[in-house]
Amino acid sequence: MNHHPSTIGPDMQATVVPLASPHRDVARYEADLIEVTRRVIASGSYIGGPELDALEKALARAIGTEAATGVGSGTDALIFAMQAAGIARGDEVIVPSHTAGPSVAAINALSATPVFVDVEFDTACIDVNRVAAAIGPRTKAILAVHLYGHPARIEELVRLAADHGISLIEDCAQAQGARLMDRPVGSFGRFGCFSFYPTKNLGAIGDAGAVAGSTDGVSLVRQLRTYGWREPQFAEIPGGRCSRLDELQAGFLNVRLKGLDEDVRARREIARAYNERLAGLPIALPVEHKGAYHAYHLFVVKSDRRDALKEHLAKSGVMTGIHYPFPAHRQPGLTAGGRIEGTLDVTDRLQKQILSLPIFATMSGGEVDRVAEAVRRFFGN
Ligand SMILES: Cc1ncc(COP(=O)(O)O)c(C=O)c1O
Repeated sequence: MNHHPSTIGPDMQATVVPLASPHRDVARYEADLIEVTRRVIASGSYIGGPELDALEKALARAIGTEAATGVGSGTDALIFAMQAAGIARGDEVIVPSHTAGPSVAAINALSATPVFVDVEFDTACIDVNRVAAAIGPRTKAILAVHLYGHPARIEELVRLAADHGISLIEDCAQAQGARLMDRPVGSFGRFGCFSFYPTKNLGAIGDAGAVAGSTDGVSLVRQLRTYGWREPQFAEIPGGRCSRLDELQAGFLNVRLKGLDEDVRARREIARAYNERLAGLPIALPVEHKGAYHAYHLFVVKSDRRDALKEHLAKSGVMTGIHYPFPAHRQPGLTAGGRIEGTLDVTDRLQKQILSLPIFATMSGGEVDRVAEAVRRFFGN
C-alpha cells in the first residue's frame, strides 16, 4: 500500500504541482544509478559489501556519530535502537501523539508502553514540559521526533534524560540534513534513527533506514539486525532477526548523500520563497527556532479554514497533504496498552488546522509561484 497517496507518477506532473516528486528527485542521478547497478551486478555481493560499508561510514561522518548501520526501514531503525537501549515489555516510552504512526508502532513492536504527550503548537515537536511531567518509575526512554524537519528541543531533552537516567532516542526520519547549533540531528541522543523512504530528504528507490550512535551501541544494533549472530550461524543474543539495507539501495544512497546538503538548501530556498509570498495572509507559517536549521521535509501551514483551502488548492491543480490526519492516541491500532499524560489539546488543534504544501528538492520556481498564487487567491489576495 502506498502510504503517501498524495505523490504522483511522472505522467500527471505536467498538469498538477505534486506534493513531492521522488521521480524527479531521483531522475537527476539516473546515469550514476545505472553505473551503481552495473557495479553491484558485477560484484556478485548483493547483501553486505563495499556499498553498505561506504554508506555506513559516510552516514556516521555526516551525522557526527562514532558509527552508523543500515537497516531495512526507518521503523526497524527505531525498533532496533530501542531494543539496543534495553527497552522491553512493560517499559514506558514517552512519545508525541502528533507524529507518523511508525514512531508509535515501533514502541508497540517491543511490547513497551507508549506514553502520549502533547507537542508545541509552533513547531509541532514534543513539548519538553509535558515530557518532564510524564516521567515516572517505569519510564525508560524519550522518543523525540524531529517532525517536518525541524529539530525538537533536543538540548533540553538530553538534560532531562540524563537527570532521570533514561535514554533519549531521536526519530530523524523527516530530518536528514537538519541541525541544531550547527550539530546534525541524530548525534544528540543515545541513537539517531533515519528512514530513507523515497519521499524523504535522503530517499532510496525502495525501503531503507539507518541507526547512528556510539561504536558499541551500533555494534549491538548490527548484531540484532543480523539474527543476533556473533559470527555466522551463531546467535549469541536473543531478539535478533533480519533487517538489511542491500547493496543496490546502499549504492544509490551513496550517490544521493553527496547531494543532501544541496537538496536541503533547495528546500530551504523554497520555504523562504513561500514565507515571503504568503506573509500577511491569515495562515500560520512554519517557524524556525533560534539556533535551528530546519531541513523542510514538509512545509506545513495552519489555517482555521484548512479543509476549504485544501479543496481550493486541489481544484487549482496543487496537491497537498495532512501530516497527520489522525493523532496516534486516536488510532486503536496504536494505542493498545498506551496511556495519555496530560491533555493533548495542541495535538487535536493541529490535526484540524495543518496543511502540507508541495516541497521537494527539484520543485521549480514556477511551481512555487503557482502554489503561492493559488493560496493567495483563496484568501482573496
Ligand atoms: C517520523 C517518522 N518516523 C518513522 C518513519 C518510518 O520510516 P519507514 O517508512 O522507513 O519505516 C517515518 C516515515 O514513514 C516517519 O515519518
